[in-house]
Amino acid sequence: AGNRTFTMIKPDAFEAGNSGAILKMIEEAGFKIVAMKATRLTPELAGKFYEVHKERPFYKDLCAYMSSGPIIAAILEKDNAVEDFRNLIGATNPANAAEGTIRKIFAKSIEANAVHGSDSDENAAIEGNFYFSQLERVL
Ligand code: CMP
Repeated sequence: AGNRTFTMIKPDAFEAGNSGAILKMIEEAGFKIVAMKATRLTPELAGKFYEVHKERPFYKDLCAYMSSGPIIAAILEKDNAVEDFRNLIGATNPANAAEGTIRKIFAKSIEANAVHGSDSDENAAIEGNFYFSQLERVL
C-alpha cells in the first residue's frame, strides 16, 4: 500500500534500450508498478498531457519530442510516492542531477531527460487517469 505517483519512460530512454534498467531501479527503490503500458503519443496528446506548460518557451519542442517515439507510462505505489520518486529521478536538468539518480545515469539533455515524475499528489492522479482506466490498474 501507500500512495501513488505517475511516470513516463521518455523516447530517448526507450530508444536506447534503458527501460528495463530504469524499471529495475524503480522496483529496487521500493515502488510497486500498479499499472504499465508501452504506447506512443501524437503531438496533440503530448500537448494535452503537458498543457500546464503551454506558455513556456520549450512547449512546442517538448510536444514534438514526446511524440517522436514510443514511451512507457506507469503508475507507481509507495509511501510518500511523489517526493521519493522525484528524489530517485533527480533534477530536471541532468547536469544538475545528483549522482546515482535515474536522470544522472540515463538522461541525454534537459528535454530528453529519460523519465517524467509527477510534481504533486493531485497531478499524479490527473496524469495516471490520462493514460489508464480503472480496469487497466490495480485498484
Ligand atoms: P518533465 O518533468 O516531464 O516536465 C516538463 C518537461 O519539459 C521536462 O521534464 C523536460 O523534458 C522538458 N523541458 C525542456 N526544457 C525545459 C526547461 N528549460 N525547463 C523545464 N523543463 C524543460
